[in-house]
Amino acid sequence: MARKKVTVVGAGNVGATAAHRLVDKELADVVLIDIVEGMPQGKALDLAESAPIEGYDCRLTGSNGYKESADSDVVLITSGLPRKPGMSRDDLLKTNADIVRSVTREVAKYSPKAILVIVSNPLDAMCQVALKESGFPKERVIGMAGVLDSARMATFLAEALNCSVENINAFVLGGHGDTMVPLPRYSTCAGIPVTELLPAETIDAINKRTANGGAEIVALLKTGSAYYAPSAASVDMIESILKDKKKILPCAAYLEGEYGINGLYVGVPVKLGSRGIEQIIEVGLTTDERAALNKSAAAVQELVNILGL
Ligand SMILES: NC(=O)c1ccc[n+]([C@@H]2O[C@H](COP(=O)([O-])OP(=O)(O)OC[C@H]3O[C@@H](n4cnc5c(N)ncnc54)[C@H](O)[C@@H]3O)[C@@H](O)[C@H]2O)c1
Repeated sequence: MARKKVTVVGAGNVGATAAHRLVDKELADVVLIDIVEGMPQGKALDLAESAPIEGYDCRLTGSNGYKESADSDVVLITSGLPRKPGMSRDDLLKTNADIVRSVTREVAKYSPKAILVIVSNPLDAMCQVALKESGFPKERVIGMAGVLDSARMATFLAEALNCSVENINAFVLGGHGDTMVPLPRYSTCAGIPVTELLPAETIDAINKRTANGGAEIVALLKTGSAYYAPSAASVDMIESILKDKKKILPCAAYLEGEYGINGLYVGVPVKLGSRGIEQIIEVGLTTDERAALNKSAAAVQELVNILGL
């Protein structure tokens, strides 16, 4: 029985930390790819040399080419520029679109059956680039954003309730931008809607902090953007795929009529298993929630239009 294989393109902060988490959990052999010469090889070797101490039996390979990535089960695409203070995710649009396009072309050539998990920003538009360039079915091109955004919301909710983060199930819909839609009505603490437990002002503040969660970290770090939680979120998705766990996770999915949205990547709850997105789950929305989701989708559409996709 062959071991699972995951390729991580972009061996920077998110990519290398994701590789670390993947082997720590012994989920797969990992191939790290980057354009910087020696860097993915060095990081792969460093991680391989941690294995005797940590006790994982995963093969790690670093490369500047794609041959080593052949026949990957999952490819995580993190290549691209991160935000600097004052930049929005959308400022990265054209540069990262070119990077994601060229990377996807190579990945699809060497791993035609892989499931692609996209991380590069602006996330929803980059998913659309990867879908088009790969020619893969929509079930096999998935964006990571909602798991991260809802983890941020869960962190703030647990803090406000002074309870375990394990009790919290937070729910965020929409694009991965300032217009994302935190849904407190569907967010629970031990099964109890948080709207029953916290005053409206506290929830409002948490919604705002969640939507601003990435920028908060960019402003603190001053160079680069968040990567511990983004890599954890990516690995959560990859684990559900490799183990066919069928976890329901908020991910960027290509919608064709669901939630009244057509031909666009937007964050929605999906079932992730060995076939990729196995189901898109539709939940009822209030008029306000639906309006917020439509506004978020319109922001994604604007970027997709600029790219002429
Ligand atoms: N979706 C999300 O929620 C989320 C969260 C965090 C970061 N991001 C995005 O992920 C991306 C990576 O973030 P990071 O913090 O790891 O940045 P980073 O700068 O640390 O790493 C990016 C890496 O990509 C590499 N790269 C650039 N062009 C390449 C190419 N053509 N082929 C292969 N590698 C290439 C760079 O050399 C660099 O090592 C950014 O676009 C960032 O905005 C998204």
